[in-house]
Amino acid sequence: MCGIVGYVGGQSALDVVLAGLKRLEYRGYDSAGVAVLADGGLAAAKKAGKLANLEKELSDRPLPSGNTGIGHTRWATHGGPTDANAHPHLDNAGRVSVVHNGIIENFAALRAELADRGHELASETDTEVVAHLLAESFSSCGDLAESMRQVCRRLEGAFTLVAVHADAPDVVVGARRNSPLVVGVGEDEAFLASDVAAFIAHTREAIELGQDQVVEARRDGVVVTDFDGAPAEVRPYHVDWDASAAEKGGYDYFMLKEIAEQPKAVADTLLGRIDLAGNLCLDEVRIPASVLREVSKVVIVACGTAYHAGMIAKYAIEHWTRIPCETELASEFRYRDPILDQRTLVIAISQSGETMDTLMALRHAREQGAKVLAICNTNGSTIPRESDAVLYTHAGPEVAVASTKAFLTQLVACYLVALYLGQVRGTKWGDEILSVIRELSEIATQVDEVLETMEPVRELARSLASKNTVLFLGRHVGFPVALEGALKLKELAYMHAEGFAAGELKHGPIALIEQDVPVVVVVPSPRGRSVLHDKIVSNIQEIRARGARTIVIAERGDEAVAPYADHLIEIPVTPTLLQPLVATVPLQVFACELATARGNEVDQPRNLAKSVTVE
Ligand code: F6R
Repeated sequence: MCGIVGYVGGQSALDVVLAGLKRLEYRGYDSAGVAVLADGGLAAAKKAGKLANLEKELSDRPLPSGNTGIGHTRWATHGGPTDANAHPHLDNAGRVSVVHNGIIENFAALRAELADRGHELASETDTEVVAHLLAESFSSCGDLAESMRQVCRRLEGAFTLVAVHADAPDVVVGARRNSPLVVGVGEDEAFLASDVAAFIAHTREAIELGQDQVVEARRDGVVVTDFDGAPAEVRPYHVDWDASAAEKGGYDYFMLKEIAEQPKAVADTLLGRIDLAGNLCLDEVRIPASVLREVSKVVIVACGTAYHAGMIAKYAIEHWTRIPCETELASEFRYRDPILDQRTLVIAISQSGETMDTLMALRHAREQGAKVLAICNTNGSTIPRESDAVLYTHAGPEVAVASTKAFLTQLVACYLVALYLGQVRGTKWGDEILSVIRELSEIATQVDEVLETMEPVRELARSLASKNTVLFLGRHVGFPVALEGALKLKELAYMHAEGFAAGELKHGPIALIEQDVPVVVVVPSPRGRSVLHDKIVSNIQEIRARGARTIVIAERGDEAVAPYADHLIEIPVTPTLLQPLVATVPLQVFACELATARGNEVDQPRNLAKSVTVE
């Protein structure tokens, strides 16, 4: 939600910042802007719309070159996506420039106060007040970092701020509260950004900024303090993926690349997590075994796609550990006074590690004494930092706004946690764990097989481009898969899409079935839970009798369902609990192809942003 880049060093700040913004455009694409310090002054350009509009503006009206600069790509909160509301924002004298991610909740009062002192504000944003406050503060103390600290002490809400001042030519200053900001430390240069992707082409040495900290970056190093100016302890880390991981690698869209990367991502999530004796060794789960043995309830909190992973995890956790498990939307969790105590294990699932709803849910859980385990893909992000322990998914950077490989790896991580809980509590042991791990290890190859057979799915998707509605049905773990299929279609194809538990059909949704409505049905394995299988076959017959066009995702060799499928998508044979890992993949491909056929932006769907850092 908004991407921020700051640079100080020996290169052209404009080039570095623009390249960084390209990598961060997934965070918001309502407008973009840059400011550079040059010739003793400050030059800025900003444009509504995508980064390409700003690039055009810069080629029509080039900025002077300088070595210190900042940039921003926006997901609008306060004020529409106009040129005036685009960041950076400047003070009236045009000496200070600031970019911001988050929401400054007390901006109206600050704005009124500034207006009383004669400041003229040019935009409707909450951010602009910061530029004016920084200018006032700098004119009295002459130190940009100190000005930032003074201003931050007056702000309420969530914010990452990065600023430059024409009278502090070799300094970029940043601050963070509840929104992400990482520091890149290069040779004779430094970077501030919302995500390491912005500077990974230059350096892989990074520093995590903590809550309520201010960083002053210069060519020769960075100084980090709290908002009162006390030195802060910094946590340096090495980024273990390289620049190519953040590029499209020959694919038309990041989403296609990320779908194709799923076999590797799934394998990477499993890597090194089982020892020679066949025991799970999740060293990262620093919650003592004695505490895990006492857990009386598991609560999973997450949003969107990660929530669907959590819904599936509930089935695995309850089945393998016999501990009651609830999965809850993080945005609802803390508002309903949930019952939590020291014996509750809360699992917070988040790709970005920055989702504000999930962060607030985990804070609430910890305040009630619960232990929190994060399942996260982004090293150094806020959610793992604020949790008692973290299991990283190792999916590599996910750039497309619609989550794909993060989902599959979240599922694998959830299965690992469920097995680990079983191991620690003695409900699952040795051979049993090994056999599930063996089945999980085969999933990478099976996902590959699914990817090999996707042409008919793409063809089908193209043929449905003019439809208005697609419905999705599933049972058991197939139900969250149906929800995920519908979510992907909504966000990418902008179509009405809804997922239902197939058993609920007769309680209302069947009224939606009319001639030729496409209904995707995720069919459970005919083995094992065959009662469910038979029931869903009946559901398919019921909707077909009412004219639905059935698109059936079923296990290879499932002859009982084939006669009722207008379109049959076969997936490999897996144990029931693991089926979502292969059943979701055709739905991702389906949504991606439908979006393309409808002429939509695949990687940057309208109104969305990758990392939702506001509540
Ligand atoms: C959908 C999607 C979102 C995210 C949700 C949570 O494709 O990407 O629904 O899953 O915003 O994001 P994270 O996992 O970063 O907390």
